[in-house]
Amino acid sequence: MDVESALRAHLLALRITMGVRAVFLTGFMGSGKSSVGRELARRLHWDFVDLDARIEMREGKSIAEIFSGHGEPGFRIAETAALLELTQSLKRDSVVALGGGAFTQNENLELLQAWPSVFLQATVDDLWRQSADEDAIRPLRKDREQFARLYAERLPFYRQATLIVDTTGKDLVAICARIEAALHLGQAKTESALDLPLSF
Ligand code: S3P
Repeated sequence: MDVESALRAHLLALRITMGVRAVFLTGFMGSGKSSVGRELARRLHWDFVDLDARIEMREGKSIAEIFSGHGEPGFRIAETAALLELTQSLKRDSVVALGGGAFTQNENLELLQAWPSVFLQATVDDLWRQSADEDAIRPLRKDREQFARLYAERLPFYRQATLIVDTTGKDLVAICARIEAALHLGQAKTESALDLPLSF
């Protein structure tokens, strides 16, 4: 195990010994954060939390209404408030799907420092196609050129995630298996804590 993976495992172990485990999924609109999150949570018998749903619940408004009433700055304030509340109140092991912009705000990255995160990487073509979901209104999905530009701007943030998984051509099972193996999530709490080296 190299130093970086040992350190990640150590951070995860700290959380484990503190009692609650969590993994945060990040990536652009249409990268599959919610579908992967639901499937990963089901496989691990963990809770699934959708940050956008939490925001809507706290604000009593849809994401589209928050954007139209308060603009993107207003939405970002609501997003950080929901994330702060969530990270302070996690009581059960959870997989959390973040909204596409949450991981690009420095204050949110600070809140997430102690938790492992996963960037679901995909091609712009796949993202554009997969985000054309009529049920999910996405105020920041305008034309394809703007979409590609925004993705490029966000990549340096997404790449700071603990783990990067290229989802191209992979199904949900393969993506979840990769995340579980890389972050040692399949193991029982005590087992994974015991497996870890004591010093690096
Ligand atoms: C956003 C993505 C959306 C939602 C909001 C802002 C973004 O979530 O949080 O519309 O900034 O990319 P999804 O990534 O789940 O679509």
